Amino acid sequence: MEWTGLNELREKYLSFFESKGHLRLGSFPLVPKNDNSLLLINSGMAPMKKWFLGQEEPPCRRVTTCQKCIRTPDIERVGITARHGTYFEMLGNFSFQDYFKKEAIAWSWEFLTGVLAIPAELLYISVYLEDDEAWDIWTKEIGIPEDHMVRFGKEDNFWEHGSGPCGPCSEIYFDRGPEHGCGKPDCKVGCDCDRYMEVWNLVFSQFDSDGKGNYELLEKPNIDTGMGLERLACVLQNVGNLFEVDTVRAILNHVERISGKTYGQDEKTDISIRVVTDHIRSTAFMVSDGILPSNEGRGYVLRRLLRRAARHGRMLGIGRPFLTELVETVIQENKAGYPELEEHADYIKKVIGTEEERFYKTIDQGMNILNGLIENVRAAAQAGREAILSGIDAFKLNDTFGFPLDLTKEIAAEAGILVDEDNFRAEMKKQREQARRDRLSRDISGWAADLFGELTAEPTCFTGYDTLEDKGVILALSDGEELLDAVSTDEGAKEGVLVVLDRTPFYAESGGQVADTGSIVTADGARLEVRDVKKTPKGYFVHTCTLLEGTAKTGDTVTASVSKGRRGAIARNHTSAHLLQKALREVLGSHVHQAGSYEDDERVRFDFTHFSAVTPEELSLVEHIVNRKIFEALDVEVRTMPLAEAKKMGAMALFGEKYGDVVRVVDVNGWSTEFCGGTHVKNTAQLGCFKILNESSVAAGIRRIEGTTGYGVLRLLDERTEMLQQAAGALKVNNLKDLPLRAAALAGEVKSLARELEQVKAAAAASQIEGLFESAADVNGIKILTAYFSGTAPEALRSMSEKVRDKAPNVVSALVGSSEGKLTLAVACGKGALDAGLKAGVLAKQIAAIAGGNGGGKPDLAMAGLKDETKIDEALNAVPGIVKAALEG
Ligand code: ALA
Repeated sequence: MEWTGLNELREKYLSFFESKGHLRLGSFPLVPKNDNSLLLINSGMAPMKKWFLGQEEPPCRRVTTCQKCIRTPDIERVGITARHGTYFEMLGNFSFQDYFKKEAIAWSWEFLTGVLAIPAELLYISVYLEDDEAWDIWTKEIGIPEDHMVRFGKEDNFWEHGSGPCGPCSEIYFDRGPEHGCGKPDCKVGCDCDRYMEVWNLVFSQFDSDGKGNYELLEKPNIDTGMGLERLACVLQNVGNLFEVDTVRAILNHVERISGKTYGQDEKTDISIRVVTDHIRSTAFMVSDGILPSNEGRGYVLRRLLRRAARHGRMLGIGRPFLTELVETVIQENKAGYPELEEHADYIKKVIGTEEERFYKTIDQGMNILNGLIENVRAAAQAGREAILSGIDAFKLNDTFGFPLDLTKEIAAEAGILVDEDNFRAEMKKQREQARRDRLSRDISGWAADLFGELTAEPTCFTGYDTLEDKGVILALSDGEELLDAVSTDEGAKEGVLVVLDRTPFYAESGGQVADTGSIVTADGARLEVRDVKKTPKGYFVHTCTLLEGTAKTGDTVTASVSKGRRGAIARNHTSAHLLQKALREVLGSHVHQAGSYEDDERVRFDFTHFSAVTPEELSLVEHIVNRKIFEALDVEVRTMPLAEAKKMGAMALFGEKYGDVVRVVDVNGWSTEFCGGTHVKNTAQLGCFKILNESSVAAGIRRIEGTTGYGVLRLLDERTEMLQQAAGALKVNNLKDLPLRAAALAGEVKSLARELEQVKAAAAASQIEGLFESAADVNGIKILTAYFSGTAPEALRSMSEKVRDKAPNVVSALVGSSEGKLTLAVACGKGALDAGLKAGVLAKQIAAIAGGNGGGKPDLAMAGLKDETKIDEALNAVPGIVKAALEG
């Protein structure tokens, strides 16, 4: 066998299975679609469950992929050993009710021993205990000698991962040679040591598991195979673990360069190098698939990995942010298989860099606190109490300093201390429950799905792209007929009636666009007002209605009418979101991607990736571009087309979204092209005009723009005009045009009045100074002047002090003034006082200290801030004593 690079191996595998009639698909994104059982894609088959179960038609009965995978059950082990990693690629060939064991086994053997020329005698095979069929194929058809075969039980040779397709499996092991073994006499395939390395898993997928121990036999069996690409590379490159594989080693080398440390010299350093190497790989891929750091779900996994990598970077002595530099190597090494990395390069670096910076900001603070807490726990333990860090403390660290529990645990463990996790979780739960209560009150789709879960009719047909009024039939109602009857006759309107129709022109809330409202009238004359529409996972449109009159029942024929004006306004705002996205990309750059949106009849809210506030100039340019496109009256064309064609057109997809074979594309005259299921205007001129209302930040790296179109702009104009008129009224201006001038003149007037006032005050103070000289104390021939002037700003105080200083040589003044809630002390020494050895700076410090302040300055004049208003008298009374001490000291 020949040394082969990881990228080349991937290609060899995929093209081999293409030659066996398989359709090569790109890796699915790491974020599972419509599968709540999984946080992150963890195997080749995970994104294809529906094809295995026959719930959806695969694009081909034979498929081959190299799938990005993340497995995180033991993050804290990663780095500590060289065996563990969080990110890997899984090669797989899949049969959906097509070929089975015989072909799967034969092809795996042909690939390993034929294409890759791995010596057959170095390969060992395991099969499931009861699987005689697989045993026979391996031994009789392939010709594997029995001493290279083993049978294992369910523990080892039955593959399942949570719920979904599963079945017995057969594994192929590679013998790395006795020098890698444990040397025990019973060492053989399955031993925990490093000698026999499992490389390929062939799963004969025959069951659907509910994840709770119940297995349903599938009508037709499937094949699901998985081979870790990095493992295979270890074999071909004759290296011991994934960190030595060419593409990974290149990242590791980069970590060495940045840290100035050498791998393989010291265990502690090696751990940190491995942590950084592994985590930067997984996080770069996660970000490229649209995951953002957060405190929940997969966002939390990402945050945890990034923070762990940053922390280990520090342990390596890297005293600056460095992760984004490594991203470059991750991209270089992997772009052959994953061009999206290069496409999103700037974005990935921004997200990772921002999170790293945030972490550094909080880590020092958090570390100090944690170290303090650890010290306390240690002291308590010495006094005989339990060495455990309280859950509340751990929660506060998490909540305030963004220290994930696992990081706290890891650092505490390094000091031999446990964390009270139960308590931590209890605190966390409290916070989450509140958030959930808030959400539940807004979301009916969950229980509507339960309510109509028994329905077997075809899903609702949505006709609202083409018409706003349609006839349909009631498939189901939330309330029984009797109740509706009673309500309509006795109590008038009945709120909260849920109606499912077979076809409807009403748009159900989705993709950020709100639902339509309008009316449903039955053939018998019952009238329902539609307030909201949601779609159940099975595709039934549930209309939340108020029954105004009559009786409605299942089977009734109805006329459903969408409120036209409102729909028009929603469509205008939705189209403006597309124009806005395109304009933002033109002005800010192609790193701008939609990160969320909301359109109703009043406004559009568009969230997007960008890393600093959008400047007023940029905003005005964006607004201008959108309006230009409106005035150009461009046609908006909606087309459905094959995914590949849409991609070729350059249509903007939602980040990390996997689309079906046929997609809906909204095209504004070739200028803005987006995948979208929403409703739009037919020509941009219908928007009338577009106006940005607001720009703000929603999260790290995500900005929000709110805007409006059509009547919304007119409303805005009316509101502003009204405001101007009020202002004009208050300023007594008749013509609105004169308002700015009048406001500016007034502001100028106010300023000069304030200046005048200052002068009057200073004059008053000056005359007060005269008085002060008269009542001054005398210390060894030096006059001591002290006074407190409320409402006197520091500047005025300073000029007063200068006057005192220049008026008589043998004088020391200490004047306190207050202005805008701030207290200031000014100390001045006349020439004679200076000659006597007094220094204003020194005196000011001593006097200020009495009133909790601090300050200093030159020998002849010094200023200080004071804190404690109640101590001013005490401080001023102390001045003669302080001067005396200074003169005599
Ligand atoms: N799905 C199987 C695995 O991940 C092939 O090992």
